[in-house]
Amino acid sequence: MKIGIDKIGFHIPQYYVDMNDLAVARDVEPAKFTIGIGQDGMAVAPITQDPVTLAANAALNILDEADREAIDFVMFGTETGIDHSKSAAVYVHHLLDLQPNARSIEMKQACYGATAALQLAKGHIALNPKSKVLVLASDIARYGLNTSGEVTQGAGAVAMVISANPKIMTIENDSTFLTDDIMDFWRPTYSDVAFVDGKFSNEQYLAFVAHVWDKYKEETKLCLDDFAAICFHLPYTKMGLKALQTILDEGNADTQERLQENFQESIQYSRNVGNIYTASLYLGLISLLEGKELAAGERIGLFSYGSGAVGEFFTGIVQENYRDHLKQDHHTALFSNRTKLSIAEYEEVFSAVLPTDGSTVTLDTTKDPAPIYVSGITEHMRQYENNNK
Ligand code: HMG
Repeated sequence: MKIGIDKIGFHIPQYYVDMNDLAVARDVEPAKFTIGIGQDGMAVAPITQDPVTLAANAALNILDEADREAIDFVMFGTETGIDHSKSAAVYVHHLLDLQPNARSIEMKQACYGATAALQLAKGHIALNPKSKVLVLASDIARYGLNTSGEVTQGAGAVAMVISANPKIMTIENDSTFLTDDIMDFWRPTYSDVAFVDGKFSNEQYLAFVAHVWDKYKEETKLCLDDFAAICFHLPYTKMGLKALQTILDEGNADTQERLQENFQESIQYSRNVGNIYTASLYLGLISLLEGKELAAGERIGLFSYGSGAVGEFFTGIVQENYRDHLKQDHHTALFSNRTKLSIAEYEEVFSAVLPTDGSTVTLDTTKDPAPIYVSGITEHMRQYENNNK
């Protein structure tokens, strides 16, 4: 049975920071951010958007009534969840009016959470071919103002419907993965910003690429020439480029040219959004699928990495007329309707937090164009609204 991605879309908040502005404010040569790191912009979430609303907005745009009836499993990959107990998936299930006989859970392993969800979804569909699974990947990456990780922040979400006979991409069964207990990046439960050993994290990312790619070739006997494109987890776009460069010379001249060209397509959205942790790999996939007319049957490689760390290399096969099922116009509008923040405005938005003492706050939601948003908090309960209902 063919199982894979039937629908896919993303949502980003309405604010962004230009990396040239950030560089000037931080007294850094702009080329370090735009070339050395490979980022042009960074999405910034207002207080009216959190990982729940970002994910719900991403899903809202791809689901129809048939999906709402068929989805019986919601898996929410995130490392910036809003509650240690209740899963973010339950809020989204409610906000989207999904039929009640469903499982809803949250998955965590840094940026790898959504890939775990995707693979589990595949198993669920194999056992229940008529059902559909909603996989959500949503995060707000925060390292803190004036830190070396600041340039690699971002905010956004990807939503995918996983089903049998998918319209966009099937997921193949060959997949190689690796777990190693390392401290390259982590966020203790008492901290709202990540701790990171930047250089070590870069090295480990590349070591994981080498390990799972070598294992994949050994197990499948396939090689680089069998791929139309490879998408990488993109904590910043230069990281993906470095990873591609470690394996590129294994391909013939045509392959090298093709993979480099398609890599450039896969980083267009991330260049302007930044790291959205568990959704980053999938934002790269959407960027590739929307930016390039791939032929049915072509194979795409995907490298997923979640610090701590778990890595996986897996593959998908592009389906006939897949482009008819993408939401490119909506995504283009999300980018063109964004508002650029000055660095002073970004710092103010970054520092705004909801109260943690149980008091009631009603937020000004008039400036948030997203249909689903946080309208306030009362007695430690976030209040959500869906304008679309
Ligand atoms: P840094 O120390 O500020 O930067 O940290 P740098 O000094 O290493 O410079 C970065 C690059 O800019 C270098 O290029 C410089 O040469 C270049 P490279 O040698 O690496 O190719 N550069 C310039 N280029 C052009 N013109 C100039 C110029 N000056 C310098 N004038 C770092 C950078 C990424 C480490 C930092 O931002 C950081 O710690 N970020 C967070 C950690 C991270 O993103 N790690 C990635 C791998 S781990 C991962 O992907 C998992 C993650 O997503 C979390 C999860 O799983 O949940 C993070």
